[in-house]
Amino acid sequence: MKVTPNHIQSFKTIVGASYVFIDNETLDFFSRDETEKLSFLPEVVIKPKTAEEISAIMKICNRDFIPVTPRGAGTGLSGGALPNFGGVLLSTERMNTIINIDERNLQVTSEPGVITEVLMNAVKEKGLFYPPDPSSRGSCFIGGNIAENSGGPKAVKYGVVKDYVLNLEVVLPNGEIIWTGANVLKNVTGYNLTQLIVGSEGTLGIVTKIVLRLIPLPKHDLLMLVPFASLEKASEAVSAIFRAGFTPSALELIEIDALKIVSKMVESFAVPVTDDIAAHLIIEVDGNNMDVLMQEMEKIAELMNEFEAGEVFFADDHQQKQELWKLRRRAAEAVKLVGYTIEEDTVVPRAELPKLIKAVKALGIQYGFKAVCYGHAGDGNLHIRINHPTIKNSHGNEEMTKILRELFKIVKSLGGVVSGEHGIGLIQKPYMDIVCDTSNMQLMKLIKQAFDPNNILNAGKIFD
Ligand code: LAC
Ligand code: ZN
Repeated sequence: MKVTPNHIQSFKTIVGASYVFIDNETLDFFSRDETEKLSFLPEVVIKPKTAEEISAIMKICNRDFIPVTPRGAGTGLSGGALPNFGGVLLSTERMNTIINIDERNLQVTSEPGVITEVLMNAVKEKGLFYPPDPSSRGSCFIGGNIAENSGGPKAVKYGVVKDYVLNLEVVLPNGEIIWTGANVLKNVTGYNLTQLIVGSEGTLGIVTKIVLRLIPLPKHDLLMLVPFASLEKASEAVSAIFRAGFTPSALELIEIDALKIVSKMVESFAVPVTDDIAAHLIIEVDGNNMDVLMQEMEKIAELMNEFEAGEVFFADDHQQKQELWKLRRRAAEAVKLVGYTIEEDTVVPRAELPKLIKAVKALGIQYGFKAVCYGHAGDGNLHIRINHPTIKNSHGNEEMTKILRELFKIVKSLGGVVSGEHGIGLIQKPYMDIVCDTSNMQLMKLIKQAFDPNNILNAGKIFD
């Protein structure tokens, strides 16, 4: 059903007139996220402050079958926060309080609209560490990270968001407010509702409070950059590091074309870009004993020689490290700006990475597009950015969908899946059948029905 003036009036009564928006500028702003070049206008944007307000809104929408799209900071790359059916766009941006840092139990309780980096810094001040740090950590919200089960560079050693979520307060589509679990480190008291919500892309409920476990902050880290003359050699070196007994705290790959583009955008010349380099690995180790870390770094550097690595660059101080991370973190944004609009988030078992990269390049030649790769090589999680001369959106495009189906069939044959950390959302739906059995899909749909029988909450995401 459409949103009526009566609905608008009710929403204003619930959250206050100044937090309900129907002006074109606001609707336009909330029609996009970071996904391709897509845009869907909501009918109304609401910015609630509390779970109770969201509950009241959901009761109305559920009664009248009004589509609701929850949204964090809009940094998503799969279209999860796009209001594809119009309706209500529910922004969590005013729910931005860190409620409590429990130093006795090493936990933090937060609202969903807190910027991830703000949360990381707040716990860091207490000597604590919340590791999952997506590239967008300076702007994304922790609530969005829960919805997507985000990863980021540290995942290779410390795991992803799910590994830190203990308990969630959730508003269900019918307006009921529940806690999914308890603030404990172990819990087999029935089905794990907490982990069902994590990564459910805002399709089952709206997360309004989050309890995360924390760990002690490692005292030191070391960072090095290793150039390779061949992309394949760089990707082969990745799994060798783990087989040799090391677990870096980050192991990222960035292809030279991506590095060239991002260096230009951020005007950084920290990394010399010469024609004999095809890709770099960014390798970080962390811990509490500097001598041990130095030894580890030296041994890893030595091992890299077996893969025809060039001269290793050690980032000496905080500023150099920041500079390297800036180049890696802003790669996605930079390449999109110059035309690499289509992004994939493939993930394969780590040692299969070289085969995946080879296949991507072959598809590019076959179908006439440029592909640039970067990502969390240590996790086998490769971001592939596609610059097609004419096709700028995969969503709704037959030709690109056909190409990407070929890609995902290769991913599947290597034991991989469609998304490692960006989710399925709107744009990856056409590939779900390649990696997900009919029975699994059916189970997922039944779960959706149990939570949201009227199919009003973020409908048409993950599956139709
Ligand atoms: C990154 C984001 C796009 O790794 O996931 O940069
Ligand atoms: Zn990533």
